[in-house]
Amino acid sequence: MKRTIIKDLLRTTDYGAHALVKGWVRTHRSSKSVHFIALNDGSTIKNVQVVADVEKFDADLLKQITTGACLSVEGLIVESPGAGQSVELQATKIDILGACGDDYPMQKKGQTFEYMRTHAHLRLRTNTFGAVFRIRHNLAYAIHNYFHEHGFFYFHTPIITGSDCEGAGQMFQVTTQNLADLKKDEQGNVDFSDDFFGKPTSLTVSGQLEGELGATALGGIYTFGPTFRAENSNTPRHLAEFWMIEPEIAFYDINDNMDLAEDFIKYCIRWALEHCADDLEFLNKMIDKTLLDRLHFVVDHEFVRLTYTEGIKILEEAIAAGRKFEFPVYWGVDLASEHERYLVEEHFKKPVILTDYPKEIKAFYMKQNEDGKTVRAMDVLFPQIGEIIGGSEREESYDKLKARIEELHIPMKDMWWYLDTRRFGSCPHSGFGLGFERLILFVTGMQNIRDVIPFPRTPKTAEF
Ligand code: 4AD
Ligand code: MG
Repeated sequence: MKRTIIKDLLRTTDYGAHALVKGWVRTHRSSKSVHFIALNDGSTIKNVQVVADVEKFDADLLKQITTGACLSVEGLIVESPGAGQSVELQATKIDILGACGDDYPMQKKGQTFEYMRTHAHLRLRTNTFGAVFRIRHNLAYAIHNYFHEHGFFYFHTPIITGSDCEGAGQMFQVTTQNLADLKKDEQGNVDFSDDFFGKPTSLTVSGQLEGELGATALGGIYTFGPTFRAENSNTPRHLAEFWMIEPEIAFYDINDNMDLAEDFIKYCIRWALEHCADDLEFLNKMIDKTLLDRLHFVVDHEFVRLTYTEGIKILEEAIAAGRKFEFPVYWGVDLASEHERYLVEEHFKKPVILTDYPKEIKAFYMKQNEDGKTVRAMDVLFPQIGEIIGGSEREESYDKLKARIEELHIPMKDMWWYLDTRRFGSCPHSGFGLGFERLILFVTGMQNIRDVIPFPRTPKTAEF
C-alpha cells in the first residue's frame, strides 16, 4: 500500500477506506482497552489520531509506542468523534520503524528555546520548529514567485569573492594555505600568490556588486543566497551566516525602489497568511498572541516614508520630552535598534522607510545627494525587528563613484570591473537586500534569529 501524507489524510472524507501512514509519535495515552496515538509526519502541524485496540496488538509492541518513536500504521479511515479533527485511523497493523527511549531529548513539553538550540538536530521534530520551517519554505517559494511574476531573473552571484561589498571588513577569509606555516615576503606580509586563487579571497557579505552587473544587462535581477558576516554581534537579530534576497533594477530611482520593497514584502506576508494558516494559527496561540494582528496590520497599511534627518528630529523631540534611550541620538549617528523601533512602534505605529542617510554611515556605492552630506539610502524598519531591508539608489556617475572609492581607500585594482559599468553605458539603477531570517522572524513571531534557521552560525557556535 502506498503511503498517505498526513496532511492529505486529514482532508479526506473517504470513510471506510484503508490508508497507510508513517510518522513520529507526538503523544500517546491509553485506557484499559484502547491506545490513542498522535502521529505527525511533518507535512502539517496537525497530528492524525491513531486508535489501537489493546486486544488486537501484542503488548510488547504497544509498549514500544513511546514519544518520538517512528511508526508505520495501516488502518481504517473513520470519522472522528473528537472535536477539531474530522478523521482518525483505526489501526489494523502497526510496525515500529524506530523505537525511541525515554532519554529522547525532545520528550518534555515546554522546554526552553535555549535548551532546544543545543539539540538543533532534534528540535526540528517539535511543533514550533515544524511550523517555522514550513513557513520558511513557503516564504522562499513566495519570493521566487514574486520576482518571476514581475519579470525579474534569478541571478547567481559568487559565494567566494575578492571584494568587500559593504566595506565593513567583516569577511571570513577563504584559503587553502597551511595556516601553521604561512609563506611571507621580506616585509612580513602573507604571500597569496601560492594560495588557491592566487590572491586573498573571502566569503561574500552581499551579492550586490555582481548583481549590478546583472541588472545593467538583464534589466531586473534578484539574488537569493547565503551571505556571511564575521561581525561579533551577539544579538537576537544577527547571524554570521544568513540568507539574503537582493533585487537590483536598471532605471529604478529610490522611489521606484521603495515601491518595490513595500509591494514585495507585503506580498510575502500575504502569501504566508494564505498558505500557512494552520502554522500561523499555532504560533499565534503558542508564541505571540498579537502575531496575526500584526501581520494583517502591515499588509493593510501604507509604510511611512521620511528622511533620516526628519527621523533624528523626532527622536530628539522624544528625548526632550523625557524618553530615555541607551545610546545617544545626534545627526550623523548610526541608529540603534532601539531608535528604529521607537519610530516604528511608538511614534508612527507603522513600518517606516527611512531615506537619505549621512554618507559616512553608509556604503561607498550609494548615490550622493546634492547636499554633499547624504546619500540616497533607504532602510525599511519593522515592528519588533528594526531594520529588515537595506538598500539604495546607486551612484551612476563614474567620477563621483571613483572619487568616493579613493576617499575611502578602497583598493581600486579590485574594483575595475565594477567601475566599468559606469564607463560603458552607465544608467540609473537601484536595489536592496532583505534579510531572509529577519523576514521569517517577523512572520513567525519568534524572538531569536537562531530559531528561524535550521542550523545557526553565530560567534563561537558552529555545531551541527
Ligand atoms: O543593510 P545590509 O548590510 O545591505 C547590504 O548588504 C546591501 N548590499 C543590500 C543591497 O542593497 N543589495 O544588509 C541587508 C539586510 C539587512 O537589512 C538585514 O535584514 C540583513 O540583510 N542582515 C542580516 N541578517 C542577519 N544577520 C546579519 N548579521 C545581518 N546583516 C544584515
Ligand atoms: Mg543595513
